[in-house]
Amino acid sequence: TASPPTDLVVFGGTGDLAMRKLLPALFLCDRDGGLAPETRIIAASRDGLADADFRDKAAAAVQASPAVLRAGDVDPLTLRRFIERMHHVTVDVGGELAAWKPLGDLLHPDRPRVFYLALPPMLFGRICRDLGAAELVTDDSRVVLEKPLGRDLASARAINEEVGEVFPEHQVFRIDHYLGKETVQNLLALRFANMFLEPIWNSRWIDHVQITAAETVGVGSRRGYYDGSGAMRDMVQNHLLQLLCLIAMEPPASFDREAVRDEKVKVLQALRPLTDGDVAEHTARGQYVGGTVAAQDVPGYADEPGGSGEPSSTETFVALEAGIGNWRWSGVPFYLRTGKRMARHYSEIVVQFRDVPHAIFPGQATAANRLVIRLQPEETIHLHMLAKEPGAGALRLRPAPLELSFADTFAERSPDAYERLLMDVLAGNPTLFMRRDELEAAWRWVDPIIAAWDGTTPEPYAPGSTGPAGAHDLIGRSGRTWHEEELT
Ligand code: BG6
Repeated sequence: TASPPTDLVVFGGTGDLAMRKLLPALFLCDRDGGLAPETRIIAASRDGLADADFRDKAAAAVQASPAVLRAGDVDPLTLRRFIERMHHVTVDVGGELAAWKPLGDLLHPDRPRVFYLALPPMLFGRICRDLGAAELVTDDSRVVLEKPLGRDLASARAINEEVGEVFPEHQVFRIDHYLGKETVQNLLALRFANMFLEPIWNSRWIDHVQITAAETVGVGSRRGYYDGSGAMRDMVQNHLLQLLCLIAMEPPASFDREAVRDEKVKVLQALRPLTDGDVAEHTARGQYVGGTVAAQDVPGYADEPGGSGEPSSTETFVALEAGIGNWRWSGVPFYLRTGKRMARHYSEIVVQFRDVPHAIFPGQATAANRLVIRLQPEETIHLHMLAKEPGAGALRLRPAPLELSFADTFAERSPDAYERLLMDVLAGNPTLFMRRDELEAAWRWVDPIIAAWDGTTPEPYAPGSTGPAGAHDLIGRSGRTWHEEELT
C-alpha cells in the first residue's frame, strides 16, 4: 500500500548517497506502488540546477543503479512517472534565512514533510535550526539523519541537542542501514515468531556468538572521511552493535517502536565496559598494507588517494570480545569483527552452541551445533548438525546442515535496505531507527576503547587475508577460532 502523500526533501540531494542509494531505492518503492501519486521528491543543494537538469541526472542514476538493474528491466513509463515527482531547489545552508524562501514556497502547506539530511553531520544542527527559524517544521514533519552521528559521546550529544531543539524525538529518524536489511529483520522473526529457539537462547546452551562484517574493498576515495573515523566508528559503533542488540535483546512485549528500542537499549547498557586494562587483551586493530589480490596490485591504506602517504594510526580492521552483564548472557563472549580488504565479502552472525555433555559414539568427533545467519552476499540461515552417515557398517557421524535460502524459498525479491527504511520514514514508523538513548549508549561503550587505543599503532595485515594475527590471538586465547577458518 502507498504511503501518505508527502514532500520528501533531500539535503545533499545531488550528492553521492542520493544518487547511489536514495533515488534508486525510491524508484523501486514507486515501481512497487509504495508512493502516493502526490508524493514529491525535492532535492535541496547548492548546485543551482533547473528541475529538468536534476531530472536528467536522477534518471541516469536510477538506470545505472545495480539495485535497480537487479530488480528487473526499467520500464520507461514508470521511470517517467518517477522523474516527474522530482524538483530541485537551491538552498545555501549556512547562508541568510531568506535563502530558505524558495523551499518554503515549494512545500505543500498540509502534507507531511520529510527532511532527509544526506550531508556531513556538522551541518545537522545548523540545518535544523534554519528549518525551524524559517518556520518550515510542522507537527507532521520528520528529519532523517545519516551516520556518522558524531565521533564520540560528547559530539553525538551535541548533535542530538541541536536537532532536538527543533524536532521532538518522535520526529527524528536516525538511519542505520543494517536495520533495513531483510535478514536482519528476519532475525526478529526467527527469534520471536518461533518457539524452538527461545528456551535455548542463553548461556546454558550457547557457548559464544560471532558477528562478522568483512569487505574486500579498501577505503578507495573515502579516505578523507575515513581517516577521522576508522573501522570502530564506521562499522562497530553502529552496525555491529545493532546486530548484537537484536541477537541479545529480551523478547519485547510488542513490535512497537518503543518496546523494541527499549529492549535494545538495555543490551547496550549491559555491555561490560572495556577499560584501559582490558583493551589490549580484548581488542585487536589492524590496517591493510599494499599487496596483490587476485593478480591485481592494491595500495595499502597509507597510499589510498586523499592520504598524505604518511603513516596513519586509523584502523581498517577491528576485532573485539564483548561481554553482556545480565542473567541471560553472563559468561558468553560476543566476538565482533569487521575489516576492509579482507579475503571475502560477507556479513554473518554465528551462534555457536555448547558441546554435548557426553559423547556416546566411540572414535567419532562431535562438533557442536551452530546457527549461521548470513546477511550478505546471500541471505541464508544454516543450522549445522551432525547426522549418521548412510551405511550398514559402524555408525559414523557427518556434518549435515539444515539450510534455508531466502532466494530459493521465497519468490519475492528482497528489497534493498534503503527501500525498507524509506518506506518506514514515509509511514512514520521509527521502530527500525536508532533512538537517541541507544545511540548515546553505544558511544558510551565505544569511547573508552578508542581512548585506550590512543598512541597505539594498528597491526598491519595483508590485503586478501583474514585480518591481523592479533585477531586470531584474541579469539584463540579461549581456545576458539573464527568461523571462516573452518570453512575451507
Ligand atoms: C557503511 C560504511 O555504513 O557501511 C562503509 O560507512 C561500509 O564503510 C558500508 O562499506 C557497508 O555496508 P554494506 O551494506 O555494504 O555491508
